[in-house]
Amino acid sequence: MRQQIVAGNWKMNNDLAQTETLITSLKNQTKTSNAEVMIAPTFTNLWQAYQTLKDDTIEVIAQNMHFAENGAYTGEISASMLKSVGVKTVILGHSERREYFGETDTILAKKVDTALAHHLRVIFCFGEVLADRKSGNHENIVEGQIKNALFHLEASAFKNIVLAYEPVWAIGTGETATPEQAQDMHAFIRKTLANKYGNDLANSVSILYGGSVKPNNAQEIFSKPDVDGGLIGGAALNANDFFAIVNAF
Ligand code: 13P
Repeated sequence: MRQQIVAGNWKMNNDLAQTETLITSLKNQTKTSNAEVMIAPTFTNLWQAYQTLKDDTIEVIAQNMHFAENGAYTGEISASMLKSVGVKTVILGHSERREYFGETDTILAKKVDTALAHHLRVIFCFGEVLADRKSGNHENIVEGQIKNALFHLEASAFKNIVLAYEPVWAIGTGETATPEQAQDMHAFIRKTLANKYGNDLANSVSILYGGSVKPNNAQEIFSKPDVDGGLIGGAALNANDFFAIVNAF
C-alpha cells in the first residue's frame, strides 16, 4: 500500500501571526483518513511552525531549497539550514519556481541530489502548460521533466521521493484536471518509472495530484487508483477546506 499524502503548499502567503492562527485552526481539526498531512509555510515561519506542531502529526515542510551547501548565494536557503529548523521534507521543481525563477531540469537535478544527500525527502513537482496539453504533447513533456531531473538516481533513492503532477493550466485557475486526466497521467508516470526501475519500485512511489483541488472535487480525484494524494494551494489556506480534502480519502 502506497503512502497517501495531502500536502498544503502555502506559497507566499501568511506572515508569522497568520501562520500561528492557521496552525491553531489546523490543530483543532479531526483527521479521519490515513493520509500523511504536511504544510509548507514560508521560510521565515518554518521554525515557529515546527515548534507549534512538534507533538502533532502534521509535518512542517519547505517550499524550496538551493543546491549549494553554503556560500555566496544571497537570499537563498540551504539543505542544512532547513534541517536545523526541523524540516525533513522539501518541495522541489514547483512550476512557479520553474516559470518565475528560471529553474531548469539541470538545476533541479542538482537540488534533488543535495536534498537526498542531506536525507531530506523530496516532493518533486512537474507538469505541462496548456499549450502542451492542447497539442497532445503533455506526456512527452512530463516524461522529459522526470527523466532529466531524476533518472540519474539509484533505485534506492526513490524511497525518499514523492512525485507531484501539477498541470500548470490547473494551478490557481479553478480548472481542475478531470479525474480521468489525472489518472491517465499518473498511470503514464508510473509506467515511465517502471520502464526504468521496474514495477516494484514504480508501484511503491506515491504520486500526488495538484491543481485546484478543493473539498468538492478531492474525493473523486483521490478515488483514482494511481492518485495517492494531493498538493494543495489555495484550499490549504483554510483549515476546514484543507481537512475536508485530507479526509476525502
Ligand atoms: P491550487 O490548489 O491553488 O491550484 O495550487 C496548486 C499548487 O500549485 C500546489 O503546489
